[in-house]
Amino acid sequence: MTETRNNETVVDLKNVNYEYTTKNTIVQAIQNIDLTINHGEFVCLVGPSGCGKSTLLKTIAGYLDPTSGECLMENEPIKGPHWKRGVVFQSSTLYPWLTVRKNIEYGPRTRKKDKEEIRKTSDYYLDQIELTDFAENYPFELSGGMKQRVSLARVLANKPKLVLMDEPFSALDAITRLKMQDFLRILWKKMIRLFY
Ligand SMILES: Nc1ncnc2c1ncn2[C@@H]1O[C@H](COP(=O)(O)OP(=O)(O)OP(=O)(O)O)[C@@H](O)[C@H]1O
Ligand SMILES: [Mg+2]
Repeated sequence: MTETRNNETVVDLKNVNYEYTTKNTIVQAIQNIDLTINHGEFVCLVGPSGCGKSTLLKTIAGYLDPTSGECLMENEPIKGPHWKRGVVFQSSTLYPWLTVRKNIEYGPRTRKKDKEEIRKTSDYYLDQIELTDFAENYPFELSGGMKQRVSLARVLANKPKLVLMDEPFSALDAITRLKMQDFLRILWKKMIRLFY
């Protein structure tokens, strides 16, 4: 955790457990997790491979229902995915048939936001991720780092309450990864000042 602006709770997990049931076994992936995340916090989960980080993230995202325990977001139970909880994955999940701009605009468009507002939002995030010149390009024309920046912009364009990222830069080379981590930290500080 690197910075906190106020104590308003966004995520509250109480005694959360998740078990995967496969053909022959039951895997207890996370056990007795209590976690509170407040507005403006940047939280990193660190642990060895297989310790349950992705499982925990998927539970908060609403992709997995906990086997037991309580997952709350702003005091409401988390039930399924929601645009308020944006997720950035390890590899790009951009829509290949849409341009960079259209990918960023996808969320606000499906939520039927005002056209002018949508355009302003995509202009703003294209500028933030330094890809204004690539607005009309397609994902296959971008580098790995560029694609991940668009993935982040696509999530941020929804003005989410929470951004969940599962090793978002791990598929990139070491130098690009370091640059992207710096980029993310700078962007996060800017967003925090703007929205919270
Ligand atoms: N779909 C699944 N079905 C069965 N077991 C699973 C499934 N996904 C994960 N697991 C098991 O749950 C445990 C936690 O996995 P998880 O992917 O959450 O770990 P992780 O901390 O994210 O690991 P990594 O750092 O390698 O990404 C592991 O023992 C894994 O084998
Ligand atoms: Mg993982």
